[in-house]
Amino acid sequence: MTLSRAVRIREFGSPEVMRIEAVDLPEPGPGEACVRQTAIGFNFIDVYQRSGVYPLPLPTGLGHEAAGVVEAVGAGVSDLRPGDRVVYMNAGVGAYADRRNVAAERLVALPAAVSDEDAAAVFFKAMTAQYLLKKTHAVQPGDVLLVHAAAGGVGQILARWARALGAYVVGTAGSPAKCEIARAAGCDAAIDYSRDDWPQAFLQATGGRKARVVYDSVGRATFLKSLDCAAPFGLVVVYGGASGPAPAIEPDLLNKKGCLFLTRPSVFPHNADVKTFRSNAADVFAAIAAGHVRATIGARFALDEAPAAHRAAEARATTGAILLVP
Ligand SMILES: NC(=O)c1ccc[n+]([C@@H]2O[C@H](COP(=O)([O-])OP(=O)(O)OC[C@H]3O[C@@H](n4cnc5c(N)ncnc54)[C@H](OP(=O)(O)O)[C@@H]3O)[C@@H](O)[C@H]2O)c1
Repeated sequence: MTLSRAVRIREFGSPEVMRIEAVDLPEPGPGEACVRQTAIGFNFIDVYQRSGVYPLPLPTGLGHEAAGVVEAVGAGVSDLRPGDRVVYMNAGVGAYADRRNVAAERLVALPAAVSDEDAAAVFFKAMTAQYLLKKTHAVQPGDVLLVHAAAGGVGQILARWARALGAYVVGTAGSPAKCEIARAAGCDAAIDYSRDDWPQAFLQATGGRKARVVYDSVGRATFLKSLDCAAPFGLVVVYGGASGPAPAIEPDLLNKKGCLFLTRPSVFPHNADVKTFRSNAADVFAAIAAGHVRATIGARFALDEAPAAHRAAEARATTGAILLVP
């Protein structure tokens, strides 16, 4: 038995509901490995789960992603050893901790060229971009794509990888400075969607062409205008709601806007099956090696400062990935 320092919440609410607690950590059980975590990835889903938008049974830990070093392995674990560096993104909530037991089949060994911090900054977000660009729609050279929040964590990765696949990528961001960051992340053009007329700016950026796919993670504030930006028979992918959930619509609206397709996917079912998860992870690490996916760390907070990290994310004060450092 050892002790772990972990973030727990006993009620949903503002960032202050997150408290650090000392938790007894048993020896890793069969099929598990104990990971001493060196870098924890913040993801916006942590905000939804902390605030109760996506309620979890209470009390609960938070966080889906971390990198670190294997300290011990349980019975039946043959492909990992103490000292191995690993990352995970889909092993149940509880990543906001300095140590944790994780199912070994969910741990991916890190290549020497990828630091723990870079791994924790990209893995969850790149696994999201992976299914969005390869499964939700198999992006083809010349596809016009609209990527909302393109200066953010997922947004930068999605934009750079989409461009590498040959797409013409227009990103949106909440200020001129963030638009610069979106362009540096690979967007062919970036538009400031704090201006009401951003759909016109989008059409100007494409020479009047609408999008084959709109990737909308902002939800309430953007969704209806996103429908106006999709080409006939195009696809609108609502994969988040940073501004709140997208409003309900009648199916007939999809007809009126050009016989559109609409989907609301999630990274977890795409990686539920272990074999598929490991193949998707291999695709992500190949994209990292090729330079198509890059870590951009926008801010670091101590684990104890998790409330400050959430406040910064909710205030739209960050770009790229946010790390918590135990
Ligand atoms: N479905 C999935 O599989 C999946 C998986 C991972 C992530 N996601 C979603 O992808 C999105 C990005 O995740 P992330 O972790 O990389 O976060 P992030 O993009 O770093 O942060 C969210 C961004 O959304 C924009 N935003 C617009 N309105 C906002 C508002 N009212 N409050 C806060 N932010 C607002 C902000 O950029 P601007 O200031 O430029 O507007 C902000 O930086 C989230 O919506 C998340 O839920 C979905």
